Amino acid sequence: MKPSRRHFLLLSVLLCSGLGGAMEPISTTIAVGMAATLTAFLASYQDILYHFTECCRPGWISFNGTGLEEDLNRNVFGQHIASRIILKAVSGFMNNPNPKKPLVLSLHGWTGTGKNLISQLIAENIYKEGMGSNFVHVFTSTLHFPHPSQYLTYKSQLQQWIKGNVTNCEQSMFIFDEMDKMHPGLIDSIKPFLDYYDKVDGVSYRKAIFIFLSNAGGDGIAQRALEFWKEGRNREEIELKDLETHLALSVFNNNQSGFYRTSLIDKNLVDFFVPFLPLEYRHVVQCAMAEMRERQLATNKDVADKVAKELVYFPKSERVFSVKGCKTISSKLDYYT
Ligand SMILES: Nc1ncnc2c1ncn2[C@@H]1O[C@H](COP(=O)(O)OP(=O)(O)OP(=O)(O)O)[C@@H](O)[C@H]1O
Ligand SMILES: [Mg+2]
Repeated sequence: MKPSRRHFLLLSVLLCSGLGGAMEPISTTIAVGMAATLTAFLASYQDILYHFTECCRPGWISFNGTGLEEDLNRNVFGQHIASRIILKAVSGFMNNPNPKKPLVLSLHGWTGTGKNLISQLIAENIYKEGMGSNFVHVFTSTLHFPHPSQYLTYKSQLQQWIKGNVTNCEQSMFIFDEMDKMHPGLIDSIKPFLDYYDKVDGVSYRKAIFIFLSNAGGDGIAQRALEFWKEGRNREEIELKDLETHLALSVFNNNQSGFYRTSLIDKNLVDFFVPFLPLEYRHVVQCAMAEMRERQLATNKDVADKVAKELVYFPKSERVFSVKGCKTISSKLDYYT
């Protein structure tokens, strides 16, 4: 018998969604009968289904450390600290067969400096389907949790969502964008998932990855980078320890991110704070060139220069750092090409 499309869909849902585990016993007789038939049926199609439908299995989820390193080197400009920390943190976690807690990364920096880009590269080197994977979940504060007054509803929905997804696949990844705009109570609600618990309500979160993105701390990082620049020092000389105090100070003391201190930092739930440096003119030019390559256009340095010159830089007099990083490059390029 040839498998029809409907069979495929039904089976893929059963096999890959984890629904099997969530089903309540209907009646023992029916269940046993169904199970026997189903098992025989599934066995013949299992391999094909695993091949065609995304499953929580090694064929669909496996870490490519070399790939991540190459992607970071090739696609991310001016972020030597972030690239290094990310590679080490993700490799260490993914190569550990028995992590004690989920990996929790907190990415900080000005707008357009590559926080989403790096999250995407991480996803692409773990999940075959990258950001399109059913196991990668992105929450954006202003989009998914827009009304502070409704945070109690969001809270239970979010907890259910995380629990349901990790039950379905323990190697799930959750990206929380605009973390600095998130209601403190909501952040509180994800705390139990980030901790060193063996299991929470019977579910283990130890293989999950949580990535928080925010602009909190960006000013402190930029200030320190500017000091280096003014001292005539090479940007690549900036080390994590040069930024840690600034980052901690602005993240700890900033009113908007005060919740970070109380809920996440104090309890050491964040494994790595990753600073993103503000981008310079030369990086913006690199971004423009990369965008042209991506669009399969002939790369043109003059056009890249034109695009880069149009951006606003800080401080006004010296024009060192692009205020919006590489963020508006894509639309500016439309104008010139
Ligand atoms: N360091 C970088 N290297 C290469 N491309 C970059 C870099 N930073 C930003 N870009 C490009 O600029 C655009 C915006 O970047 P991204 O979305 O990652 O910024 P972000 O740090 O998440 O900003 P925001 O804080 O506003 O969310 C993307 O197209 C990205 O590819
Ligand atoms: Mg972003």
